[in-house]
Amino acid sequence: MNLQGKRILVGVTGSIAAYKTAILTRLLIKSGAEVQLVATTSALDFITPLTLATLSKRPVLSAFFEKTSGQWNNHVELGLWADLFLVAPLSANTLSKFAQGGCDNLLAATYLSCRCPVMLAPAMDLDMYQHPSVRANLEKVASFGNSVLDAETGELASGLSGQGRMMEPEHILEQVIQFFNPKKDFLGKKVLITLGPTQEALDPVRFLSNHSSGKMGYALAKAFEAQGAAVTLVAGPVSLKLDESRFEVHRVTTAAEMFEAAKSLHAQMDVVVFAAAVADFRPENAAVQKIKKAGEELTLRLVPNVDLAFELGKTKSTKQIHVGFALETEQEEANAKSKLERKNFDLVVLNSATEDGVGFKHDTNQVRIFHKGGNEVQSALLSKDVIAELILEEVKKAAS
Ligand code: CTP
Repeated sequence: MNLQGKRILVGVTGSIAAYKTAILTRLLIKSGAEVQLVATTSALDFITPLTLATLSKRPVLSAFFEKTSGQWNNHVELGLWADLFLVAPLSANTLSKFAQGGCDNLLAATYLSCRCPVMLAPAMDLDMYQHPSVRANLEKVASFGNSVLDAETGELASGLSGQGRMMEPEHILEQVIQFFNPKKDFLGKKVLITLGPTQEALDPVRFLSNHSSGKMGYALAKAFEAQGAAVTLVAGPVSLKLDESRFEVHRVTTAAEMFEAAKSLHAQMDVVVFAAAVADFRPENAAVQKIKKAGEELTLRLVPNVDLAFELGKTKSTKQIHVGFALETEQEEANAKSKLERKNFDLVVLNSATEDGVGFKHDTNQVRIFHKGGNEVQSALLSKDVIAELILEEVKKAAS
């Protein structure tokens, strides 16, 4: 009963995922919450008000004015009543209203007038979800302070497969519980995370690099910080916005710079996560002037870069936890376990580079986590934020 006495306003909009709002409502009620549903008219094409009203034990509100009873549904009162406004599923249409301040139904008016925190669980087809206008709207509502629960990946109602499924009700419940009862298991702990790619110059305008976006490392940073840790980031060149009010950020370009920054911070850290995709090699000599084509072959001579995880693993104290990543295309388990050993990690997170929706650039990931002692945990394909929570649980186990 983690949500005892909490008042949750659940918004439902027009999406096939609205049938899952019934399950979500039941989970919230079972956890002790009071639930009031507000639905758009098109939501009620997907799920009946009777189902939702029976599960929530309250009538579902949809119109400003109930013609049959003559009742006026006051959106201001609804907004003031709630401790949390959770919109699940959130359609692209309602998202756009939220981003623009549109107010042509009870749910949108409630959004504008509520004073409580807002959590949004978008659901739509994969191409809609990736459309620049939807991405821009999601960023906009996030900038208002709304918490966006990334859509999950899998089969979609259209028959296509990809990211766009509403976060599963069980995962939404976890987010709601975490919101009301924030775990602070890393309070007072210092966490260092390397993230993003490195760039190794060939000449003043070209470099060797890789596709790392830094998303997994940043999801971990947010998760550790939410649980009380002081998080320092050593970030290669990423396009992600890193919130410098929440994290100490050191920006670097090359592997050598990343190593120097991480080495100087290492001794004071309790947990170090090596999430960066460090370039293993760099050109032996970066040309001072731009390399000109001469119509012939060009041979690049590459020399190995420092391995941060390996070098810092040598100086790891018994109190420090080191977490590594392994991105493999073959003999995945054997390679991951050999990295665990060689780099003195306490746990290693294995991503497969060969599966859909996994690894670089994606918002989702599917991992296997191997502990030094031999334990193993396997995840489903989940958003990187949920994967981050899972990794934190394993770090706690490794530290205990
Ligand atoms: N790593 C690092 N410094 C490097 C290379 C890797 O700190 N120069 C870290 C990564 O951040 C990751 C782990 O080591 O946590 C494994 O990285 P990966 O690229 O999979 O392994 P490599 O050692 O580069 O092995 P290989 O290229 O043979 O797969």
